[in-house]
Amino acid sequence: MEYRWPKTMTGQEPKLLFGGDYNPDQWPEDIWEEDVRLMKKAKVNVVTVAVFAWANLEPEDGVYTFEWLDRVLDKLYEGGIAVDLATATATPPRWLTSAHPEILPRNKQGEVLWPGSRQQWRPTSEVFRRYALRLAEKMAERYKNHPALVSWHVSNELGCHNRFDYSDDAALGFQKWLKKRYGTLEALNDSWNGAFWSQKVTDWSQIIPPRESMCGCNPTTLLDFKRFSSDALLEYYEAEAELLHRITPDVPVTTNLMIIENQTNPVDCFKWGRHLDFVSNDHYYLPDERHLDEMTMSAAITDGVADKNPWFLMENSTSSVNWRPINLRKQPGEIIRDALVHVANGADAVCFFQWRQSRAGAEKFHSSLLPHAGEDSRLFREVCELGNALTALKPVLKSRVEQAKIAMVYDYDSWWSWENGLLTQLFDYRAEFYHWYRAALDAGVAADVVRKEDAWESYETVMFPVTILADAEISEKARHYVEQGGQLIVTYGSGIMDSREHVYLGGYPGAFRELLGVRVEEFVAIDENDKIELDNGWSGQMWADDITGVSEDCEVVSRILPSASDRALRGQAIVTRRSYGKGSAWYIGTKLDRSSAEQLFRERILKTDAVPDGKEAHLLSGEVARGENTPLRIRRVKDGQCFEFIFNRCAEQAVEVPVAGHPLYLLMAEAGEDRVVLEPSGAAVYLCGQ
Ligand code: GLA
Ligand code: GLA
Repeated sequence: MEYRWPKTMTGQEPKLLFGGDYNPDQWPEDIWEEDVRLMKKAKVNVVTVAVFAWANLEPEDGVYTFEWLDRVLDKLYEGGIAVDLATATATPPRWLTSAHPEILPRNKQGEVLWPGSRQQWRPTSEVFRRYALRLAEKMAERYKNHPALVSWHVSNELGCHNRFDYSDDAALGFQKWLKKRYGTLEALNDSWNGAFWSQKVTDWSQIIPPRESMCGCNPTTLLDFKRFSSDALLEYYEAEAELLHRITPDVPVTTNLMIIENQTNPVDCFKWGRHLDFVSNDHYYLPDERHLDEMTMSAAITDGVADKNPWFLMENSTSSVNWRPINLRKQPGEIIRDALVHVANGADAVCFFQWRQSRAGAEKFHSSLLPHAGEDSRLFREVCELGNALTALKPVLKSRVEQAKIAMVYDYDSWWSWENGLLTQLFDYRAEFYHWYRAALDAGVAADVVRKEDAWESYETVMFPVTILADAEISEKARHYVEQGGQLIVTYGSGIMDSREHVYLGGYPGAFRELLGVRVEEFVAIDENDKIELDNGWSGQMWADDITGVSEDCEVVSRILPSASDRALRGQAIVTRRSYGKGSAWYIGTKLDRSSAEQLFRERILKTDAVPDGKEAHLLSGEVARGENTPLRIRRVKDGQCFEFIFNRCAEQAVEVPVAGHPLYLLMAEAGEDRVVLEPSGAAVYLCGQ
């Protein structure tokens, strides 16, 4: 899909976009005027309209009431506010589910998921699709020439609630998908190892979704079902997008992905990214010490999904959400700081759920741009300041995030495989990925995020963290990369199985064993209260590979000390580096603790400890800012210009950072001649030469 950004409304200049979901039909019409006045005051320039408005647009089968939406769009246009128009198909109205209960999804137990909340539809239902496409078509026909329309927003967070459907429609869809993937039942039975527990399939019709069974389902079936479910939603997306492209060829189409830390990974975002005209994401901060680092990681993943094209932050929150067990609010300045984190990582649009805080309904206590307290509130004043900040940052528009020193491979297939918990339940894929991403941040580098099938050979260093699945093509790609001079890092839990989840025999990690020059015979889980000490002062936790063979041309970087409680591990190599061709291949056989992982990056892999004199960042106490206090620096570049975004990662102290160029925007920061001092939650954006 060719990359296309939302249009600019006639008579307007392109800008960084700023706004949020706008649900005017959930309010009396007499406040719409006030909405537009306050949007203008805050410099809001785009809103997403009609996401959940199906019931108000088609109150009865085939009866349409678009007049109110006409008035909303006209008012917004008069106010200079662009519209990212939803197709309104996210939630079917009650008349539809009553008339056609066969569109309702079924859970693992086969029970119906009833209406009462939202997104109660089967991704594979032909009946649902017929009704939804009919509405999308009416919307497109009605608004195709509306001057406020700048982009289309298909459905909403596809798969957020209806990722898995176990209905008979899903069974038929799954059978069709498997036929396409495997071609023959023989290939299917081979992949699923049908002989195991007598599960051999002799007719496609015997295949059902992984419904509740006696003691857990075949893992490859589960993995294929996740792939199928992602593809079924994508096929649905494509059906809407095709229709919109046909009727409005010049209006780009998107849908909001969910690259966010909350165990939600419904679709393979890397695959989806290639099907959207521009990538959009929804992200909600973690209300704990991971807030900034996790947000930058999610934003970096989104930038990878967008292939470094500018992307659209479709939702984030001005303060607390309403759906966590404890909803901690943001600190002063963090609305802006967080927006800058996304912009630093490639967002050219920063939007929020939602414009006006609801008065009633499920999300009435979720923060918004305009809170219950109204215009005269600290929060709305900060929202207005964000409007100013994004205006000041206009020069950043259309620049791209500079290629990082290291790329980390993010693999939905491996994530989905880890979820089966067959090797260990110690690991949460995203938490492991975060551990290594943060180690690079601690060493002063914000990594790029790539998928293993794409081109990552131009990076100096590429890391495979816990990438449990790797096919022969990936092994060969990795070998070639190292041969040509690349630095490859592979961690524990990587390259153990192929994409059918068949284990490579002869010693782990089969996909990379020869390249790395190590052979692992067994895995050793480490008790959570225990750790292994290494001979170079590092330590490891949770996991150790029983590395029984190391090739002669391998450098043993760390060995396990005799204090290890697992006796067979004592004295064994656990971190190794092998020179191969013009490059090198590292193996990390344990989860190094935070400071050891930082040292590995800082001293050996990224060599960021070699800063010239006086170029280090210092805390106000004078101490060099290292580890969790290392400032975050990300650069966006275009046409010989470079924009450097700098953030203080230290929760309690100010940090003084060397800078070049001149400041474009300062948030809780003071600029000196060649240094900037950032308060906790502070940030600065500098314009500097490339
Ligand atoms: C039981 C079953 C075996 C095998 C083992 C695994 O004993 O009979 O088939 O599943 O558990 O521990
Ligand atoms: C999701 C949805 C929104 C809203 C927010 C609340 O992102 O898309 O409609 O429910 O969550 O955080």
